[in-house]
Amino acid sequence: MKLLITGGAGFIGSNFIHYILEKYPDYEVVNLDKLTYAGNLDNLKDIEDDARYKFVKGDIADEKVVGEVVKGVDAIVNFAAESHVDRSLYDPGSFIKTDVYGTWVLLEAVKKFGIKKYLQVSTDEVYGDIETGFSKESDYLNPSSPYSASKAGGDMQVLASRRTFDLPVLITRSTNNYGPFHYPEKIIPLFITNCLEDKELPVYDGGTQIRDWLYVLDNCRGIDTVLHKGTLGEIYNIGANQEPEITNLELTKTILKLTGKDESLMKHVTGLRPGHDQRYAVDCSKIKALGWKSEVSFEEGIKKTVLWFKNNEEWWKKIKNGEYLEYYKKHYKS
Ligand code: NAD
Ligand code: TYD
Repeated sequence: MKLLITGGAGFIGSNFIHYILEKYPDYEVVNLDKLTYAGNLDNLKDIEDDARYKFVKGDIADEKVVGEVVKGVDAIVNFAAESHVDRSLYDPGSFIKTDVYGTWVLLEAVKKFGIKKYLQVSTDEVYGDIETGFSKESDYLNPSSPYSASKAGGDMQVLASRRTFDLPVLITRSTNNYGPFHYPEKIIPLFITNCLEDKELPVYDGGTQIRDWLYVLDNCRGIDTVLHKGTLGEIYNIGANQEPEITNLELTKTILKLTGKDESLMKHVTGLRPGHDQRYAVDCSKIKALGWKSEVSFEEGIKKTVLWFKNNEEWWKKIKNGEYLEYYKKHYKS
């Protein structure tokens, strides 16, 4: 099987490529990535000479490039996206271009070149926040940020392509991931690396919010399950269903403890995330019926993740002293 993986130089995409090449010795992978600030070929250094792997720099919104890379491909897994809620407040247009228009370009290629399967990697954030209970795949979409609204727009294109053109599509909607190669702008890698550098941890809006932290390998296994066993046209939630649920404040205290730092590094801030979603939680019974379940507990996953960041200082320091620093100065210090 030959897979086109888009956005494979980012956090989840690069973990997925490693996972696929290891699990399926006879699979080939083409990775199409624009290499935005979040795309990082350092994530794939160990496999760059693997004969089963090929990297192509390009934009999913570019029909010409997409038309070239889909040749001979059996399935597409689309990870490519602008993915950070905070950045979507400053530059929503780039989110719409990639997450909506780019998705449409890929679907057009599925139609034109008769690709056998297309899997859209989406997010639980399309449901909006949910005070109690669990979002189901059939729930209406109620996104809060330009990021989640763009992802919802992408999902709608995928679903419409099924109904109108009978395209062979699937959607996964996972909860927040964490693990190796996580760009240090999202809360877990930002707070771990800030602790390691003795920098402040900006806790937004009292830290009462809840996310259902899913270890990235569990998501990779989930996407693999849906790709191979899912019913075309269906959506599958993927979540850890953590018990008990963890607030951002509890998460922050766990990270402080695991890095040996004290709570004086915590800095409460407000106003940085208007429209801040309070809680996400998803019902995973559909994917569980395909035989998937999350295997890594939060306790285990967060320890592994802290260790990975401790052992890969060069990887994250390059980012934090470069692009991330520029972004931070522009939006938080001016
Ligand atoms: P990321 O920001 O780390 O990586 C995104 C990758 O896409 C980068 O390599 C970037 O260069 C590439 N890219 C961006 N625009 C592109 C374009 N126009 N053409 C080609 N490549 C482009 O994101 P991530 O955290 O790995 O997320 C991957 C996918 O999973 C996204 O679709 C995201 O919405 C979804 N998702 C993420 C999470 C999470 O917690 N990180 C949770 C649920 C769903
Ligand atoms: P984030 O990692 O950006 O993921 P998402 O917004 O997609 O869920 O944020 C997770 C939670 O952490 C969210 O409630 C916002 C909060 N947060 C902070 O408190 N401080 C920070 O510096 C960041 C980046 C996020």
